[in-house]
Amino acid sequence: MKKKVLILGSTGSIGRATLEVIENQRDTFEVSGLVCRDNIGLLNRQITQFNPRYVCIFNKRQEKDVSFHKNRLFTGIEGILRMINTDVDIVVNALPGSAGLIPTIETIKAGKILALANKESLVMAGRIVSGLVNKTGSRLIPVDSEHSALYQLMKDINPGDLKAITITASGGPFRKHKKKALELVSPEEAMNHPTWKMGKKVTLDSATLMNKGFEVIEARWLFDIGQDRIKVLIHPESIIHGMVEFIDGSFTAYLAVPDMKIPISYAINEGKIRELPFKNLCLHELKRLTFYPPDLVRFPSLRLAYEALDAGDSALVVLNSASEVVSQAFVEGKIRFTDMPVFIEEVLDRHRLTSVIDDLEVIWEVHNWAKEYAEKIIKDKR
Ligand SMILES: NC(=O)c1ccc[n+]([C@@H]2O[C@H](COP(=O)([O-])OP(=O)(O)OC[C@H]3O[C@@H](n4cnc5c(N)ncnc54)[C@H](OP(=O)(O)O)[C@@H]3O)[C@@H](O)[C@H]2O)c1
Repeated sequence: MKKKVLILGSTGSIGRATLEVIENQRDTFEVSGLVCRDNIGLLNRQITQFNPRYVCIFNKRQEKDVSFHKNRLFTGIEGILRMINTDVDIVVNALPGSAGLIPTIETIKAGKILALANKESLVMAGRIVSGLVNKTGSRLIPVDSEHSALYQLMKDINPGDLKAITITASGGPFRKHKKKALELVSPEEAMNHPTWKMGKKVTLDSATLMNKGFEVIEARWLFDIGQDRIKVLIHPESIIHGMVEFIDGSFTAYLAVPDMKIPISYAINEGKIRELPFKNLCLHELKRLTFYPPDLVRFPSLRLAYEALDAGDSALVVLNSASEVVSQAFVEGKIRFTDMPVFIEEVLDRHRLTSVIDDLEVIWEVHNWAKEYAEKIIKDKR
């Protein structure tokens, strides 16, 4: 029996890479459902190529342009939730930002295997998501390359032997920029990532290192490890994705070319390694692998993420929600690159801290407050 895969965000960077993996593993998988927001042209081509059972277009106004049977075509968040509850085995959640949280929760509750690219689910509600996974015994397999690396490296290790884990970062396009030069960078420059081709928000977050901050938070919940034992190293070649350090001073590291199809294949194959016909790592062609610590003065977003983890659950929600607002404002040319962490810090400073949140409604209350407050201070300061 082929495994039925539902792809949330099929027209995005992760969604397209997932379909490429499935195209190469047709013996194992069939596409059960495709979901996107409004990229009708690509969605229609994917429907023709993969013949899914269900399709959902988030933007209801576009429904009429989708070439698909009307009784199996859904819209909006209700449509996404319905699809999760159809006959699917694996849900790939590749939605961006807070849009991914409700589908993550629904997938776990429905007992489906969750291949999770949407790191924001864990940033906003890591305690609730990991609590649900433990309670229901369902499987969450990370798609993020660093977390896929660590997931594999941490398999079968004795917890007492573990000293720390390291997540690597390319450093983004501005890793050599001086503080003054960072003030002048344009949205177009920020969208030009040196090693990964990704969606807009995650690309911008990679340029500020907020993405690495989100990944530290993601690791905290995925591996149930304190933030003092989660390290970040800048590694511009993006070959080593994660490292585990042991109490005897030894390390293990995971190496691969920067290609999301590798962790996607591992996740949808439920933690199994499969042969892939894509570019392989050629070690003798590597001239060198370099590492250095991140600069938290030039890139304060990473510092904010560690501080939010120290502060408590509401700070993590605020970090993500304020980040969504300031990123949009930067892309629209309303604020400078260097203003983004300053505004996020202001929202964090002003919010009412709740250290433990185990109620999803409270997450959304904090989210809405943080978005409104961030919008207000951006408006007031312009
Ligand atoms: N790209 C990477 O290499 C990478 C690596 C690790 C983790 N991630 C994480 O994976 C997630 C997705 O990243 P991405 O780079 O693939 O993003 P992306 O290229 O922007 O794609 C987002 C996908 O989600 C759809 N979408 C957006 N909002 C939606 C909504 N409200 N309802 C339904 N569909 C919606 C988009 O549809 P339209 O095309 O119609 O807009 C598109 O299919 C993010 O959380 C990111 O941090 C990405």
